[in-house]
Amino acid sequence: MKIGVFDSGLGGLAIAQSIIRRLPQFDYLYLGDTKRVPYGGRSQETIHEFTSQALSYLFEHQCQLVILACNTASAEALRKSQQEYLPKHYPDRRVLGMIIPSAEAVFEVSQPNSVGVLATSSTVESGAYKRELCRVQEDIAVIQIAAPLLVPLIENRGQKYILPILEDYLQPLKEAGVESVVLGCTHYCLIKDKVRQVMGCPVISQDEVIPEKVANYLTRHPEIESKLSQSRRREFHVTDITPGCSDLAWALGREEIQLEKVVLK
Ligand code: DGL
Repeated sequence: MKIGVFDSGLGGLAIAQSIIRRLPQFDYLYLGDTKRVPYGGRSQETIHEFTSQALSYLFEHQCQLVILACNTASAEALRKSQQEYLPKHYPDRRVLGMIIPSAEAVFEVSQPNSVGVLATSSTVESGAYKRELCRVQEDIAVIQIAAPLLVPLIENRGQKYILPILEDYLQPLKEAGVESVVLGCTHYCLIKDKVRQVMGCPVISQDEVIPEKVANYLTRHPEIESKLSQSRRREFHVTDITPGCSDLAWALGREEIQLEKVVLK
């Protein structure tokens, strides 16, 4: 059985590859819904529908554990999938999201009284980060910023134009003097250095924290780990292949990645 990693597009490759580097012995199946990306401005209902289709695909293709690398899907669809979909269809499989481990990581790095969250519009609207941060520390002040321009800029090689836009998004966090920042979107791993430069406070980047969290989860759940095959096989499936796909996959995954086109039902 494999570890599945799902994202709305290719951004999750940054997280998938960092998990693969930390736990190289396992077999992985990455699924990116490149045909329907971005999810970040869609309704909760639609995100749930697309995420359920992706989970079905990954479970049908022998994934024991699925990591929802997509923050938007984690924020909107994870709870419902864990409470309704899994018990009914695949009771022995597991799905892990990004929000809880990222929120926990904030307090493992420092002891802030205020946290800024940078994410897609839909993740911000869901309030998921605020909820999980307050669960760890009830009185934490959370300022969420929706940054809809960042994903398209990163995807279209627009990094050289990003700094003034990023500074503008980060301005309210600077003014409020937040003591930590969470990058709540797959793509933002690529701009973590710029955010650190602007903010000058601890910045949680998921490519740095999620691999250790997954390793930890497997140690605590030998019943899941024992089912994982260890042939170092990697498959990267996407729902559409466009001319820029391979370049973007390289930029995000930091190595040559063979993408295979598949259909979700
Ligand atoms: N993968 C999404 C996330 O992490 C960003 C791209 C999108 O909007 O679909 O939130």
